[in-house]
Amino acid sequence: MRSSLSRVALLYRLLRPLFFLLDAELAHSLVAAFLWLWARVWPRPRRRALLAQKLWGLDFPTPVGLAAGMDKGQILAPAWFRLGFGFVEIGTITPRPQPGNPKPRLFRLREQGALVNRMGFNNDGAERTAARLRRLPRQPGPILINIGRNKETPNERAADDYLTAFRALAPLADGVVINVSSPNTPGLRDLQADIGSLVKAIVAARTGQMPVLVKLSPDEDRPEEIAEAAVAAGADGIVATNTTIDPAGRETGGLSGAPLKEKALRACARIYRQVGRRVPIIGVGGIASAEDAYARIRAGASLVEIYTALVYQGPRAARDISEGLARLLARDGLSLGEAVGRDA
Ligand SMILES: Cc1cc2nc3c(=O)[nH]c(=O)nc-3n(C[C@H](O)[C@H](O)[C@H](O)COP(=O)(O)O)c2cc1C
Repeated sequence: MRSSLSRVALLYRLLRPLFFLLDAELAHSLVAAFLWLWARVWPRPRRRALLAQKLWGLDFPTPVGLAAGMDKGQILAPAWFRLGFGFVEIGTITPRPQPGNPKPRLFRLREQGALVNRMGFNNDGAERTAARLRRLPRQPGPILINIGRNKETPNERAADDYLTAFRALAPLADGVVINVSSPNTPGLRDLQADIGSLVKAIVAARTGQMPVLVKLSPDEDRPEEIAEAAVAAGADGIVATNTTIDPAGRETGGLSGAPLKEKALRACARIYRQVGRRVPIIGVGGIASAEDAYARIRAGASLVEIYTALVYQGPRAARDISEGLARLLARDGLSLGEAVGRDA
């Protein structure tokens, strides 16, 4: 009998041409509604750990996670784990709710296997997201919450926004990601220049052991210096990278997917050489295959995340990448831990 995941994958293959006729954000909302239903209607599958590892004291059943922005606080975590993700990064969540930029704000570049988005942190705010997280039953892998500042908050007061979101959400998360790299909130990336102060403020507000990570942009000349400042101030890891503002074509916004791959890989390797022996790195940007994930791990990532590949490949993407990764590691006779940073 077909597994519920294969049925959903088949359904996605059949429906994808129709989805791609729709506006990209509308298609996203339809898929999200379907996933919400699916995770409730079908019984839980057996949990399968593939390349399990422990980082920050947390158990990651597989190293392939969902990148921020796909689940902006709807909390579809049960569905994400059922699609084979080993962890989920939810957000970006800002302290107060905000609508984001005017639509349309999400575009497909199909020939390039890419997306351009200028969503602008549309989300329901920290309180409502926290309420949903409180109702969520225990999940099979870690949940990271990605936090940012509201659009109208000036950078001089940004730390207050991050602290408000952190205090509301950190008690409900396994880890927090400080997002200072989205291109769609004016001025946000400037926070990278003084990342040490922001990290210090958040680390000081932390109770308990939970890891605090910083998500960086791929467009900096010296990403390793920003990573160094973050780690020196107490950050427990780096997420490399967000989308790029390289000329993306017709629409302004952040470019993700295949055209981002080399840039994000380079940033990951530079950051690993600087801080990789002290803290783990989550590699993200243009990963679409097991080979891409393996290359990112060999460049220094302990975990990887995908977003755009999920849109183009459908619900089997995470599972396919994990299974292919296990085969590549077996071929080379390496454990996951031994492969991390091998090419750096
Ligand atoms: C539509 C869309 C929305 C996104 N929203 C966020 C966000 O809110 N916060 C964030 O840190 N990254 C966000 N990202 C960036 C992704 O998390 C990821 O860093 C980037 O897309 C590169 O990975 P990919 O090539 O696998 O898509 C978003 C990406 C897309 C395509």
